Formats: sequence, C-alpha cells, structure tokens
Amino acid sequence: MAGLTLHKIKKVYENGVNAVQHIDLEIVDGEFMVLVGPSGCGKTTTLRMIAGLEEITGGILKIGDREMNDTPPGERNVSMVFQNYALYPHMTVFKNMAFGLKARKVHKSKIQEIVQETAKKIGLEDLLQRKPGELSGGQRQRVALGRAMVRNPSVFLLDEPLSNLDAKMRTSMRRELALLQRELKATMVYVTHDQAEAMTLGDRICVMHEGRIQQVGRPMDVYENPANTFVASFLGNPPMNLLQGKDQIGVRPEKLKIGPAPENSCLQLNGVLDMVEQTGDSQILYLKCGQDTVAIRVQEGEYTTGQELTCHALPKDLHTFSKQ
Ligand SMILES: Nc1ncnc2c1ncn2[C@@H]1O[C@H](COP(=O)(O)OP(=O)(O)OP(=O)(O)O)[C@@H](O)[C@H]1O
Ligand SMILES: [Mg+2]
Repeated sequence: MAGLTLHKIKKVYENGVNAVQHIDLEIVDGEFMVLVGPSGCGKTTTLRMIAGLEEITGGILKIGDREMNDTPPGERNVSMVFQNYALYPHMTVFKNMAFGLKARKVHKSKIQEIVQETAKKIGLEDLLQRKPGELSGGQRQRVALGRAMVRNPSVFLLDEPLSNLDAKMRTSMRRELALLQRELKATMVYVTHDQAEAMTLGDRICVMHEGRIQQVGRPMDVYENPANTFVASFLGNPPMNLLQGKDQIGVRPEKLKIGPAPENSCLQLNGVLDMVEQTGDSQILYLKCGQDTVAIRVQEGEYTTGQELTCHALPKDLHTFSKQ
C-alpha cells in the first residue's frame, strides 16, 4: 500500500474549463479518504488525474514517494472502480476478474488461485460462472470491486460505486466496503456527492466546491466546525440553518430547542410553523421567522402548521461566519 500526495494540482480541459484548481491533499497509507461535493465540483476529474486517465495541467502528484505526473496508468499501481462498473457483458464473472491478470501474463494457475481467493473474500464464489447480465446490482458492484482487488493495487480509486444501487442495498454495501477496507488496510479514495455516505465511510472527508477544496478533516470535526457557509450548508440533513444579518449566524436543526431562551446570551427566534416533516424517528419543523425559515429537529411533541412557536439555541451551539 501507499499514501498519496497532491500538491497544487490543477486541471484545465481543452475547452478552457477550469475543472480543478490548487488541490493540496495528503492521503496517508491505509486511509479511507472521501472526496465529496456537488455535481461538477471536480471530484471525478481529480480521481482520473490520480489514475492517469486525465493529464495533469499543473502541480505534482505522488504515489508513495514517487512523482507520477507522467507515469502511464498501467504503471501507477492504482485500481479504479467506475460508477457504471464497466464490466464486460459477454464474459463470466471469473473472466471479468481475471482479465487484468491475463493481460499482465500472470500464470494460469496463479490467476485461478487469486480469483478464487478474492471471490471468497467478497462472497462471489458461487457466481463465478455467471455473466454480468445475470447478476443483481449489488453483485455486479462486487465484481467490479473484485476486479480491482485482484490487481493488489497500492491505491483504490472509487467513483460513486454505489450510486446505481437502491437505498437498502447501498447501506449494506457501504458497510461491507468499510469492513473490506479495514481488512485490506487499503488506501482508498472514494468519490461521492452524497454527504451521508461521506460522513459514514470516510476516515477523513475532503469537501469540494467549484474545483477547490473547502475543508479537509474527520467527518465529525468538519460537521461540528464547518470552515465556511458552503460546508455548513452542504453537510447535514436538513443542513445547518444560516440566518441573515451583519455576520452570518449558523445553527444546526438538532441544536434548536422549543421554548423561550433561558438566558440572554442565547439565540431566540419567534415564528409561525410553515411545515412539519415526519422522518420516523423525529420531526422536522420549518419555522418562518421574518425573512428566514429555520429547520428544527424535535424528538417529541405534536405540532400543527400555522401555530406560533418560539425556539432558542445555546451560545455554544452557535456558529458565526463572516460575510467574506
Ligand atoms: N472531458 C471534459 N472536457 C471538458 N470539461 C469537462 C470534461 N469532464 C468534465 N468537465 C467539466 O469539469 C468540471 C468538473 O467535472 P467532474 O466530472 O470532475 O465533476 P464531478 O464532481 O465528478 O461531478 P458529478 O458529481 O456530476 O460526477 C465540470 O464543470 C465539467 O463540466
Ligand atoms: Mg463525477
């Protein structure tokens, strides 16, 4: 395994699009790093530059201690898992997994051994003779992962590998992937636009917006101390409430409590209940307070739209962001 260093990495596409600007990121050996951000923020571009599938316009990329900017993809010892899996439809699972090894002229008996062993690890032993068209989405996803694993790469690169799965399957594959990563002690760079996925999977997350890194850190650290309003409003469901004013004040929905403020230094808001959303384990109240509508997560109580409500938040739960 190996770590990764991205130093001032930049990508300008031929059509002039500045896809990625000034990416500084250190990924340590064995780390699960998640790149997360909205559509078009440059996640795939970054991943493809690491893989060698896209030329690097500026900056330095290192895998381990070696500079890799001009190293062909095949010599970087990275494996990429794509969103659409990119499996060969006419080949069996076994052949799909063996393909890369065969291309590298690995001995037949060795291929047999490696594929069997890997298939066992990810629960594909009984499916080796099937073709991709005869598999479920989750199984296909595992084949794509298996194909990356047999190459025993230094770094795994995964681009939204779970996005084609239904919600339930996604949650279970997420857990499998986290366990597998720990077992393999693999360095993984995982791309998603789903903040919940990033929060649960990443040792650290790297939040991106418009081609730039906004913040890097452990999920809860970033959640609790967002560097700017973009990060604050990207993480969390519903995201942090941002109130208008001279400097912006932010407060998470779960930190707003019903009732008047117990002391002067608290934030107090009065408003009319606009909407109530049931989530099963809690309710989200949307309170219209002047020009702001704030979301409040409450565990109990009965509320009806149109009613007047007062809520407050303790000083320690308030975030301030400067206008810049
Ligand atoms: N081959 C290309 N040529 C020109 N511009 C491109 C190319 N690929 C991507 N872009 C542009 O570069 C920017 C970043 O794209 P990228 O695919 O990296 O985003 P992303 O974060 O992976 O988004 P998504 O979540 O939608 O997959 C976008 O503005 C996109 O339109
Ligand atoms: Mg993408």
